[in-house]
Amino acid sequence: MTRHMDIPWWRDAVVYEIYVRSFADASGDGVGDLAGARERLTHLKELGVDAVWLTPFYTSPMADGGYDVADYRDVDPLFGSLADFDALVADAHALGLRVLVDIVPNHSSEAHPWFQAARRGEGRDRYIFRDRPNNWQSTFSGPAWTRLPDGSWYLHLFAPGQPDFNWRNPEVRAEFLDILRFWLDRGVDGFRIDVAMGLFKAEGLPDVEDQSFMSDSPVWGQPEVHGVYREWRELLDSYPGERMAVGEVWTDTLEDLALYVRPDELQQSFNFAWLQAPWSATAFRKVIDETLATVPFATWVLSNHDVVRHVTRYETADPGTGLSRAKAALLAMLALPGSAYLYQGEELGLPQVQDIPPEARQDPVFIQSEGKLPGRDGCRVPMPWSPGGDSFGFSPEGVTPWLPQPGSFAALSVASQTGDPGSTLEFYRRALACRRELVRTIPYELEWLASDEDALVFARGPLVCALNCGTRPVRLPPHENVLLATGPVEGGLLPPDHAVWLQRQVS
Ligand code: GLC
Repeated sequence: MTRHMDIPWWRDAVVYEIYVRSFADASGDGVGDLAGARERLTHLKELGVDAVWLTPFYTSPMADGGYDVADYRDVDPLFGSLADFDALVADAHALGLRVLVDIVPNHSSEAHPWFQAARRGEGRDRYIFRDRPNNWQSTFSGPAWTRLPDGSWYLHLFAPGQPDFNWRNPEVRAEFLDILRFWLDRGVDGFRIDVAMGLFKAEGLPDVEDQSFMSDSPVWGQPEVHGVYREWRELLDSYPGERMAVGEVWTDTLEDLALYVRPDELQQSFNFAWLQAPWSATAFRKVIDETLATVPFATWVLSNHDVVRHVTRYETADPGTGLSRAKAALLAMLALPGSAYLYQGEELGLPQVQDIPPEARQDPVFIQSEGKLPGRDGCRVPMPWSPGGDSFGFSPEGVTPWLPQPGSFAALSVASQTGDPGSTLEFYRRALACRRELVRTIPYELEWLASDEDALVFARGPLVCALNCGTRPVRLPPHENVLLATGPVEGGLLPPDHAVWLQRQVS
């Protein structure tokens, strides 16, 4: 069977998130940058991904690691220049890698010229100003309102340095269309949309009892947001080359998520239900069934720069379980219909770094909560590229990286794992190479096969994937041969915390 030409590239793509600050530092200031990412593109090519997503590299005071943008059309000197960006895109494209950039439309930085003007009392209608605050809380903890010296209050659902835009103002709408055009004209293949369910707030800004992502929340997911994505979709479709957008959409239900991926809106949305599911075959099966029933193009993700790395999330009292489960979950994820998003370092099996000293922590979540919440620095520790040196090859020698790396990163570095068939990195490379071959031939549709309750067993045409979430070995279905496994498969039995891809037996 040949692949249909009308299947868009992103439908089955594996996208790798580069958290730019922590990927590779070429300039030698301890912070990752675009030139560093460019130098390391071959790692991604060898890994076998289809696209990269670059987290924000725009001009920013870094109140939230760059998710506070002061100029949406320029590169912060910390990360390089527009010329570095163009060179990175050109090299990525030459290697056959697509490039997605992060767009942050819910809020700007307080250093954005519009907010600077608003502080002076000019053009305040581009933001959300009130004489009195309501009871909304910042996602990072503390009140969502800050008072200016003239007594007025502005809304920030995140840090005080991230004032929320007023999307009811047409000027904001027009500005973002223009920003999207700016990057599309520079050749990006698409966008990751930050806080995509934010943007609009209910008229009147009513007080809330609960600020979670409920369907009827006045804070998140207002119906007006869909009009924006319809406009963005028209713009994307007006460019050649299947430009796309993936939304960072946190919702309570998959039905709410599906609203963002209607045929004339975003092509994709992150499926956080998969990431949030506990280690349980029943829970995984439910998410898979609901996802495939509700969204036209599925996506899967296990880790990103905002959550605890999945090796650590899956850890139990039994050391090593977390890594085994992480590899098994990856194999299941890569066999599912749709596209998969990987987060830098997961191919090395990096754990969450738990023991970052308080004085080294930089996440506004830690700072705003006065240390009550650990924040997200633990999943953002700079990548180890080689076993030795001052920063395991992240920065040039003699430079201290912006977050301290634990000594355990030496053995986990790219160079340490390369060529070792038992390493996590070589496992990822094999899995991605095998998937690349498979997706060309297997159908999108998934079929459940009879299995033990604690196991997930499904087929897509000739491929069978089995994942054992239980505590006892499970018997595998009849098969021709084993394509790939996270561990030993002997006597037709799959051990707990392992997964396997099988070639289905033709009856
Ligand atoms: C998104 C980003 C996160 C950031 C927040 C505010 O959730 O992924 O890192 O802090 O938006 O922009």
